Amino acid sequence: MDTPFSTLIRTASHEQHTEAETSTFMSDLLGGRLGVDAYARYTEQLWFVYRALEDAADALKDDPVAGPFVQPELMRVGALEDDLAHLRGADWRSGLTALPATAAYAERVAECARSWPGGYVAHHYTRYLGDLSGGQIIRDKAEKTWGFARKGDGVRFYVFESIGNPAAFKRHYRELLDAIAVDDLEKQRVVDECKRAFSLNTAVFRELGDEFPLSAA
Ligand code: HEM
Repeated sequence: MDTPFSTLIRTASHEQHTEAETSTFMSDLLGGRLGVDAYARYTEQLWFVYRALEDAADALKDDPVAGPFVQPELMRVGALEDDLAHLRGADWRSGLTALPATAAYAERVAECARSWPGGYVAHHYTRYLGDLSGGQIIRDKAEKTWGFARKGDGVRFYVFESIGNPAAFKRHYRELLDAIAVDDLEKQRVVDECKRAFSLNTAVFRELGDEFPLSAA
């Protein structure tokens, strides 16, 4: 395969990226049309997904395919828990529920983590590289819309304290993708799983959109 894998996976998911970015829920959220409750509900959904991603980190850290991607500076569960404590209060766990689409997404991540390292890489890429990129736009909007302190409580999920230079980190991440220890057929399967990961995200946005419709103004 001549095309670097990082290019392949980005190109293959480009269309779905646009779809996710322009989903009703994301557009309303970024357009400042939703209350902080919608943002908190979204943050709760992320917690389930990152639990699935990061609960597997230890078991996969020495795996030849997934291991190189497991990096402590990416870990988000702690930051999500800090955000949820700020957004929902100290007993944030008591009211926490996964939407059906979130439960399905987290289960698929866990399934890949258990049985298919290449699939885990697809989910890892879809979330973490996205958080390092568009996540920064979401943070900026959230700070302005709901008045969170810059890079402070409520938006810590988007702040990678241990990554001084996100652009360099992303470059390095793409090098890891290009060096992934799988054959061409498996690369195609990973790309397909990445598309599935995008669909799983879009499904969560759809359910969030149903829960937080804009009143017809
Ligand atoms: C409104 C929401 C979003 C915005 C504004 C946004 C914006 C962006 C931007 C500007 C980039 C390019 C960064 C660069 O070239 O370095 C990017 C990359 C990326 N985004 Fe998003 N994004 C959003 C939602 C999402 C979602 C929901 C996902 C998937 C869960 C996602 C996954 C990714 C990935 C994987 C990349 C890296 C592409 C690559 O370089 O390989 N994004 N995003």
